[in-house]
Amino acid sequence: MYRSLACVSQLFAAALAATNWVNEPDTGLEDYIFSTNYTEGSLPLLKDMRAIPDFDWVARQVMDNQMYSFYRVAAAGETSYRNNLEVWSKVKFRPKVLANHEGLNETLSVSILGYNFSAPFFISPATRANYGDPERAEINFVDAAAEENILYVSALYANKTIEEIGAAKRKHNATMNGPLVTFQQIYTNANLSVTWDAIARAEAANAKAIVWTVDAPGSSTRHRAARYDTTNANSVTSYLSWDLYDQMKERTSLPIILKGITNVEDALEAVERGVPAIWLSNHGGRQVEHSPSPLEVAYEIHRNAPQVFKQVEVLADSGVRYGSDVLKLLALGVKAVGMGRPFMYSNLFGPEGPKKVMKIMKDEILNDAAQLGITDLRNIDLKRLNTRILENEVYLMDN
Ligand SMILES: Cc1cc2nc3c(=O)[nH]c(=O)nc-3n(C[C@H](O)[C@H](O)[C@H](O)COP(=O)(O)O)c2cc1C
Ligand SMILES: *[C@@H]1O[C@H](CO)[C@@H](O)[C@H](O)[C@H]1NC(C)=O
Ligand SMILES: *[C@@H]1O[C@H](CO)[C@@H](O)[C@H](O)[C@H]1NC(C)=O
Ligand SMILES: *[C@@H]1O[C@H](CO)[C@@H](O)[C@H](O)[C@H]1NC(C)=O
Ligand SMILES: *[C@@H]1O[C@H](CO)[C@@H](O)[C@H](O)[C@H]1NC(C)=O
Ligand SMILES: *[C@@H]1O[C@H](CO)[C@@H](O)[C@H](O)[C@H]1NC(C)=O
Ligand SMILES: *[C@@H]1O[C@H](CO)[C@@H](O)[C@H](O)[C@H]1NC(C)=O
Repeated sequence: MYRSLACVSQLFAAALAATNWVNEPDTGLEDYIFSTNYTEGSLPLLKDMRAIPDFDWVARQVMDNQMYSFYRVAAAGETSYRNNLEVWSKVKFRPKVLANHEGLNETLSVSILGYNFSAPFFISPATRANYGDPERAEINFVDAAAEENILYVSALYANKTIEEIGAAKRKHNATMNGPLVTFQQIYTNANLSVTWDAIARAEAANAKAIVWTVDAPGSSTRHRAARYDTTNANSVTSYLSWDLYDQMKERTSLPIILKGITNVEDALEAVERGVPAIWLSNHGGRQVEHSPSPLEVAYEIHRNAPQVFKQVEVLADSGVRYGSDVLKLLALGVKAVGMGRPFMYSNLFGPEGPKKVMKIMKDEILNDAAQLGITDLRNIDLKRLNTRILENEVYLMDN
């Protein structure tokens, strides 16, 4: 967008303040950067990226409309997307003073399905990383994940093959963090032999878990991308069922994580069927209008069946942009949270981009926890949250 247009649209936005919605919160980046030698439409210096939403701003400036729209798009009127970003303000903190957070930093690391990582966040699977970095695409995520000891969940429809990602991973097999652990996301194909083949390839490439995306039983309504004839990545889909889960279990010894759980009944059914981990997600609001945010889903589970958080490992993503967002989900019992778009946008900077996202998140999580009087990130007192607003809206199961 041109600077002059941006000014006009800001005035316009102010006039329509009640209805207009600003995609990125104003972190001061735009005012700052145009006061430097920054050239319109070029990539800023990475050092000037101070907040996760700064990467959204950059992507909107430098990517062409078709590519940006594919990353940014969400379903229909994009209410789920906006809710994912805004819902956090429904939970206020109750900071505790004089809590002595000595040792807090020792609790940042997390274990997911028995694998240790340096922090409770990870890279969510997202297709077409070549839009950010045409050459290296997903390899930047492999490198950043290895250096920062963060989980990377690679997407089935990545631009690098499962084998290329496996090879890039092997280069890091002897770093100080030990072998890099990745999980492999899959969609099931109507032709199941394609699916079994993908799982076998993931095993051969040493992925440590299969992440089965279960929130895409149909194609999704995505106007922003359709405008550019950009197809959904998952246009070849199959009829999804628990029976298919049972068949998949027979095909692999890897744990199968269900990605896209959005209600307590499905969470309970997953527990009953022995699923080792569930992933609360509305796919970044990309699948269906008015699907709930992970904060609302985690609260629904907490309110109706809090034991779920002890019975399975619970992961979550969609709309996480700040350390404080992570703390709210951890307090409810979520083990670790993913981010999609922030990592995709950061890939415009090459391998240093995703690393910067990781560093910002680690700093924010620790600093915000200290501010709140949290002393152990793996055991956050629910008293740190005021959830009264969620309580007004929560779905309660019939007993
Ligand atoms: C460009 C893009 C592509 C995606 N592709 C996939 C995919 O192939 N498989 C999948 O399970 N999720 C996919 N997702 C969803 C992400 O895994 C994740 O759930 C979502 O991005 C989280 O929301 P956030 O972008 O607000 O962090 C994609 C998301 C984006 C933005
Ligand atoms: C802009 O200035 C910074 C130092 O402030 C410098 O590192 C950078 O290379 C300059 N960029 C251009 C395009 O001149
Ligand atoms: C935590 O902070 C203390 C004090 O600064 C430091 O000695 C220790 O190495 C840190 N631990 C980690 C895991 O960073
Ligand atoms: C993971 O960390 C725990 C302590 O937090 C430790 O007991 C365990 O040995 C570690 N596992 C691996 C595989 O490093
Ligand atoms: C990148 O991946 C997408 C999804 O699989 C595919 O449609 C596209 O053709 C790929 N592009 C390149 C250049 O490999
Ligand atoms: C690491 O990878 C290299 C090259 O692929 C291989 O020679 C070596 O045996 C591997 N080491 C481990 C511990 O897997
Ligand atoms: C299913 O996929 C396999 C490749 O994995 C292919 O050989 C076979 O022809 C496909 N079957 C159908 C019915 O398309």
